[in-house]
Amino acid sequence: MKRVITYGTFDLLHYGHINLLRRAKEHGDYLIVGLSTDEFNWDEKQKKCYFSYEKRKQLLEAIRYVDLVIPETGWEQKVEDIKEYHIDTFVMGDDWAGKFDFLRDKTDAEVIYLPRTPEISTTQIKKDLGMD
Ligand code: CTP
Repeated sequence: MKRVITYGTFDLLHYGHINLLRRAKEHGDYLIVGLSTDEFNWDEKQKKCYFSYEKRKQLLEAIRYVDLVIPETGWEQKVEDIKEYHIDTFVMGDDWAGKFDFLRDKTDAEVIYLPRTPEISTTQIKKDLGMD
């Protein structure tokens, strides 16, 4: 069984997220999402989530492409996660292109960046709705 992992915040879940998850799953049989906790988002990314971690997790677990959701609590955990969950492929959107190439040296996983879906983001939704 081929295992894939991806990471993100997935707040105000939108079709850009679904596209990413669908294409990530196409790279294997089992997809794990490392979901940023509220603390990690705030402390490290200065992002305040609209939906709590538990709500975002529930939404992701309802998506047919997602097999398991684990918490992302720090930048450093990726190497450990890849080893612990026997990951074959690490996937991120191409807004992160190049940033995780080091995982190729530190793990056996292949590292893939997928093109983002144009013109949609959580930030844009918040802006359009006057939420920021
Ligand atoms: N993503 C994507 N296409 C989009 C938006 C997001 O492929 N239009 C991908 C990102 O590249 C990432 C994953 O979905 O791999 C989770 O992204 P996240 O940062 O949670 O979503 P954004 O909508 O980009 O949120 P923000 O505006 O807060 O950065």
